[in-house]
Amino acid sequence: MSLELKLSGKTAIVTGGSAGIGLATAKALYSEGVNVAIAARNQERLDQAVADIQSLPTPGAKVIAISADLTKAEDIEKVVSTTLAQFSQIDILINNAGSARAGSFLESTDDLFLDAWNLKLLGYIRLIRAVVPHQKSRGDGRIVNIVGGAGRTPRPNFLAGGTSNAALLNFTKGISKELAEYKIRINAISPGATATERAERLAQQNAQAQGITVEQVKAQNIQSIPLKRIAQPEEIAALTLFLVSDLAASITGTEIIVDGGSTPGV
Ligand SMILES: NC(=O)c1ccc[n+]([C@@H]2O[C@H](COP(=O)([O-])OP(=O)(O)OC[C@H]3O[C@@H](n4cnc5c(N)ncnc54)[C@H](OP(=O)(O)O)[C@@H]3O)[C@@H](O)[C@H]2O)c1
Repeated sequence: MSLELKLSGKTAIVTGGSAGIGLATAKALYSEGVNVAIAARNQERLDQAVADIQSLPTPGAKVIAISADLTKAEDIEKVVSTTLAQFSQIDILINNAGSARAGSFLESTDDLFLDAWNLKLLGYIRLIRAVVPHQKSRGDGRIVNIVGGAGRTPRPNFLAGGTSNAALLNFTKGISKELAEYKIRINAISPGATATERAERLAQQNAQAQGITVEQVKAQNIQSIPLKRIAQPEEIAALTLFLVSDLAASITGTEIIVDGGSTPGV
């Protein structure tokens, strides 16, 4: 049996598609023949990502960039309407843009929490609400929420990100039964430490919060992973492709953890 994804001709939105896990996922989808709309704030980085993606071989896919701040409801509407205007359909939504900061709780303000919840929790929920009516009318849809290990396993210096991830796991499971009525599947992937720019930033913030060096934080991180390796963004992208393909036609409302065995509980 060969694993054929059969995604060619579909259309996807990838939020945070200009860097890290989002960019790796956009590249993987494009290489499979999926038209991709990537959304993020920084236009220069978006343009560079489009050039990188277009340099890959594809069986006829296109890629567009949409400049959007996904903490804003009006920008979320723009992402959906621009994608529909360009490609006429949205089969796949990859909710990925997140940038919660690490830091000591006692030194935190409401902003630390509100920023994280606005972008990731409300941002993901708003995009799902905007895309689902279209997918419902077509009787097909595939959604992946990139969440994170801190949703299930809280970390003291990452409570803003952890609480938004925990809420997203609840939301993903909670909405899956309703969406199943319209043949829309929704799943969560929770990466552990993954080699992206964001992981670098978090290591710096954690080092500051703990009063140790960035190298010490990174050594601690690897030491705590049973497989003793940091995941590559392409590994998260590969799982995402499987989940949005018909090979995963019976999988919905679940979370798949990609953390080298770090999660302590069942
Ligand atoms: N890397 C890890 O170790 C790790 C672990 C667990 C979970 N995750 C989750 O995986 C997802 C991707 O993380 P990553 O490591 O790939 O991050 P990254 O390398 O920092 O990339 C983040 C992407 O999101 C975009 N973005 C950030 N804020 C945005 C906003 N307000 N509006 C629109 N786009 C925005 C960024 O572009 P602009 O800045 O130009 O907007 C960029 O394209 C996040 O949800 C993160 O929580 C990552």
